[in-house]
Parts: sequence; structure tokens; C-alpha cells
Amino acid sequence: MELIHLRRAGVSVIFDTSSGTPAILHWGTELPDIHDADAFVRAQLELTPPCDFDQPQTIGIWRENARGFLGRPTVIGSREGSDFSQKFDLRDVKLHGEQAVEFCSVDTDAELEVCAKFELDEAGILHIRQSITNLNLVPFNLESLTTFVPVPDYVSESLDFTGRWLNERNPQRQRIQVGSWTREGREGRTGHDYTLVQFALAEGASFQSGEAWGLSLAWSGNNRHILERTPIGRTSLGAGELLLPGEVILGSNETYEAPEVWAVYSAEGIDGASARFHQTIRARSNHPTNIRPRPVTLNVWEAVYFDHNLDKLVALADAAAEIGVERFVLDDGWFGARRDDFAGLGDWVVSKDVWPDGLGPLVEAVNARGMEFGLWFEGEMVNPNSDLYRAHPEWILQSGGRVPPEFRNQQVLDLSHPGAFEHVFNQVHAILSEYNIAYIKWDHNRVLTEAAHFGRPTVRKQTEAIYRMFDELKAAHPGLEIESCASGGGRIDLEMINHADRFWTSDNNDAHERQSIQRHTTIVIPPEMLGTHIGPTKAHSTGRTLSVSFRGATALWGHAGLEWDLTEATEAQKSQLKGWIDYYKANRDLLHSGRVVRVDQAEVNSWTHGVVSHDRSRALFSHVALAQSQFSRPANIRLANLDAAADYFVRVVEPAGAPEYTQIAGPRWFEGVNLSGAALAKIGLRAPALRPDQAILIEVTRA
Ligand code: DGJ
Repeated sequence: MELIHLRRAGVSVIFDTSSGTPAILHWGTELPDIHDADAFVRAQLELTPPCDFDQPQTIGIWRENARGFLGRPTVIGSREGSDFSQKFDLRDVKLHGEQAVEFCSVDTDAELEVCAKFELDEAGILHIRQSITNLNLVPFNLESLTTFVPVPDYVSESLDFTGRWLNERNPQRQRIQVGSWTREGREGRTGHDYTLVQFALAEGASFQSGEAWGLSLAWSGNNRHILERTPIGRTSLGAGELLLPGEVILGSNETYEAPEVWAVYSAEGIDGASARFHQTIRARSNHPTNIRPRPVTLNVWEAVYFDHNLDKLVALADAAAEIGVERFVLDDGWFGARRDDFAGLGDWVVSKDVWPDGLGPLVEAVNARGMEFGLWFEGEMVNPNSDLYRAHPEWILQSGGRVPPEFRNQQVLDLSHPGAFEHVFNQVHAILSEYNIAYIKWDHNRVLTEAAHFGRPTVRKQTEAIYRMFDELKAAHPGLEIESCASGGGRIDLEMINHADRFWTSDNNDAHERQSIQRHTTIVIPPEMLGTHIGPTKAHSTGRTLSVSFRGATALWGHAGLEWDLTEATEAQKSQLKGWIDYYKANRDLLHSGRVVRVDQAEVNSWTHGVVSHDRSRALFSHVALAQSQFSRPANIRLANLDAAADYFVRVVEPAGAPEYTQIAGPRWFEGVNLSGAALAKIGLRAPALRPDQAILIEVTRA
């Protein structure tokens, strides 16, 4: 007997095919060569309990009920009520070295073929692609094709993320119980509530230590993540596209390809999982930092909203250029009858009312000040009050002749209509051809309801259409960057990374709230792909008033920018902003390439996080007080992931101005001390007594 052993970057995946179906015997830490496959398999054969199946059952990756499996099967579907139960026999195995394997199995009665490809990449991420083909003449109605991977019995905690507009990626951690913990997204887009990753954790796993297994569905439409523990005692993670009833009906010889699933294992806590996600994402040749450094961006939305005025925007461009901004983005309101959010979506033609001479004067002013120009679109949407809707009311997603309830006064265009797709593409293409536009921000502000194309569910097709739209726009405009936005962080996922270059992390620019949103979104997405802006002094989302120093110390940790009416900023504030921008430019190579570190906390009210360069010669940390400390002498600040044996020079830097403290005299190391990586990790540094919503930045350089 032979086992299939994939092995890379400290991860092993071991398959056994001896029972006639591929079964995963291990996914986790790298194991040595298996010399006695027989013994390995025997050690894992299940017992036979009383009042149960008479022979041990081997449950493979397709988890068929026919093999005695009583949890959720991999394939759910039927052919006019028949063939609802399948038993797939392994027909073909293709092994690609120690890195990839492909299995295809057939059920000759149900006349279905399923295939699954498992591939370990350089970072140890396991990429899984599944497909199902109908081999019969009668259509097969597929309800779901889920990718499942087993995790060890000793996982005890579930960690996933939930959210809503202005409040994305809240962690929910709980004990795993028997049953199925299912996170579903039915918004027709990725969703603010999308978990980004569903983890199963060994007891007590933290950011820095312990074992973590996670699954993430690479898909921007309806989605499902599952953590299932069955009463027999086994636990699995699952992920798959959530199909609406009748959405995939496979005709003869038709194949459904499930979205790719990324499976991550870490023996170094949640941060270890992040490191693998980031390594894989950064290895892509089109990863934005492999092309050029991430430019400091000014988006004018929270500065002017719909109040477009050339003089005002040129004054803003002046103020932006003065402090070192590199990209200037005109947001919503430049087209059609879009003077507010009641009209205009769908008419991607420059408004003569507000832009009598077109966008040329503004684009030229921005370019003349050494900045790139960016422009906002929301191409999948239409306001009923628009020329497009008046001409083509039949181009919206709808079912049963009903018009879906309006959401932000808008409907969704059905991009499966070739005419609708071409209309959007041609209008956007014309604007991009006319003006020197380096970048577009593409929004998606409503959920899909009753998403049908001629009565048939079409979320999947709509999702594929937006990928095609982005790809074709990029092909027609080489070098064009696209930001994926959906009322903030509603369309952030591991497939959109292949079509867009930046995500708008959240519409919430309040730095206090951004601390958590950024901390948890970067578990999967590297910071350089996440827009992080300094917002107005009084946050529009929450009304909180925060210092430039704290807003800067928060917005530094991503693709940094501003979203604030700089013409109202004082000279002192502008000089703080300039200092902050200079610092970002000088350090973005580190911020956008290093390992993201979240130090396990000693106090509930403060966080320490940072980025450490891969050679561990440089690091930058931020110590953040979200509320005042419980103690008059707060717990020491520890710095993780440095080289324990090396000496480092450590000092506090204040690129956006000094934070506020409650202390009379602060810790004595701020101006610089030399300490070993081990001392910094195990003893740490005395923490200052910061006021709530204040942060210090700690620069670390190998001595
Ligand atoms: C929602 C986005 O997230 C905002 O940043 C802004 O672009 C508005 N839409 C514009 O309508």
C-alpha cells in the first residue's frame, strides 16, 4: 500500500486511496517519510461500536452517505429527485511530485464524475479546486459542492469574523460543540459579514502560538463556511459557494467548477496563518507592491461628498500636493444627474452641470501638481432616476415581474444581458480613454435580492461578470489599478485579489474603530492591499474626535491615505500630516513586505502590533491604548518575532506628532536603548501611561 504525501513549507497532507476513495489522513504539521503505510492506515482505522455499522467505514473527501457518512455530504443534488445519493469510485489519480495531486472519481449509477485538485504552494497554503460533471442526458440539479478537510480531534475553539456596514471583521471565538457552525453570505457579493477565514484552533491558540487550521473561500458571490463536529467525534472545516435553488443545473456533460478554497495550517498561531496568506498573495507577479510602491492617496469623499466644485477641488489638490500626496481620487458625484444619491447611477457620462468643461481641468490640475488622478464608479448599479433605467428598465436583476425593494435608492444591473455589460464597459472605457486616469475605485453599495436573469438565479453569473469587467478594463488600459469597494469592506476576498489591487477596508474612518477592523482584516489580506485613511478630526461615522497623532498611527498600517478636507486643516496639522507622509514613504517598503505581528496581550485595553522585516533587521511596532490602562504602571510592551540573539536599537518615533499621556514622567527608554531580541520578547519595555485612543510608534533596528 502506498500513501500520497504532499509536503511543503512545514505542512503535510497525507491521502490514503486504499479503500477506493481518497481520504485525508492528515493535514497539518510536516511529517517525516512514512515507511510503513500499512501501519499508518491501520492506526487510523475506526473502531466498530455496538449498534452501528458492522465494518469500519472510511470516509473520504466526498463524504458520501452511501459510505455511511451522516454529516453534510460534499455533493448535494439530484436528478429530478433521483440520484440524490452517490458513491464515487476512484478512477484516476495524477500526482505532481510532492506538491499536488488530482483525484477523479465516478459514480456509474448516478452518472456523475467528481474531481478534486490539491496543491501545496511555497507558503504551505493548500489550494483546493473541485468540480462535478453530469454524465447523464438528464440534467443534474446541484445544490452544493462543498470542499471539506478534516482537522484533528483536539481542536477546541472556533474563530470566525462577522460584520456590517462601518463595523467589519469582528472576531467571534467560541468552543466547538457537536453540530454544524455555518456562516452564510447571501448578499450576492462577498459581504461585510463574510468571515474571510473560518478557523479551528487548538486549545488556547493565540496570535503568537498554538495550532490553527483555517479555510477561506476565494469567491465574491454567495458563500458558505462550515465547522462541523459530528457525534462520532470527528471535526471538519468546509467552504463552498452558496448556490440558490436551481442556480446550477448541469446539462449533459456540463461541469461545475467550484471556487477555489484556500486551506491554511499554522503551528505558530494566527499570525503564522497570516504569514502564509501574505506570502502567497505577495508572490503573485501582479501583486501591487511587485509593480511599484503604494502611493499616498487622497480621496475627496469625506471632504466634499456630492458638492463638486472645480475651484474647491483644485484648492484641495494644492493642499494635498503640498504635503506629499501622490494620488488624488474624485469620488461619487461627477456623472449624470448624480447630485445626491437619488439619481444618476448608470449614466457614466461627465455631468455638464457641475463639470461644464469636463473633468479635464481637474485632471490636468492634479497631474500638474505631480499627482495621479483616480475616479469612482459603481458600474453594477442603476438608479431608477437615470437615463439608463428609463431606456432599459428590463436590465435590472429581478424575479417574478417584481421590482426589488430599493436600497440606497438603487437597483442592480443584470450584467448577463450583453447590452447591459457593454453599456457599462463602453461608458467606463470612454472615460478612461478620454482622461489620464491611473486608478478607479469601484463601489457596490447594495445587496442583491431576487437576483434572477429571465427568472433563473444568477448570482454566480453576476460574480463572473464583474471579474470579466475588471479584467477587460485592465486589458484595455494597461497599468490601471482598481480598488474594490462595497460600502467599505463588503467585497474583500481571495478571488477579488486577482482582479483588483486594493480594497476599501471600511467606510469607518474613525481610528479607534479602525484598529480592530484593520487588525482582523490583515489576518488574511496583506496591509498594502487595504486602504487606510486619516479621516476628519471628528469622525463622520461615529462622531468621535481624535488627534492627528492617533489617526496617523492607525492609518500608517496599510495603503495609507487621507480623506479629509485639507483646506480646513491648520498649518500645524498640515505639518504633522507632512511628517507622517514622509515617514510612510520612507518606511512603506518595510510596512508592505514584512511579517505582520500581533503581540499577545497583557492587558485588555491595549494592543501591540507591528511589522518585522523578513531578515529581522528592522521592525516597526505600534503600542495602542484603546482605553486607559487598568494599572497605574501599565504592563510591559513586548516585541515579538525579532531575532532573539541579535541586539536592537529601539526608540519611539512621532511622525504625526506626540501622543497624549497621563504620566508626569514617562519611561526612560524612549530616546533609544540597545536590547536583545530575547529581552524585548520576554521582558519587554516599560509602557507609558497613554490617554485613551493614543498610540506610540516604536522603531526597531538591528544594532
Ligand atoms: C460608499 C463608499 O464606501 C464610500 O467610500 C463612497 O465612495 C460612497 N459609497 C460614495 O457614494
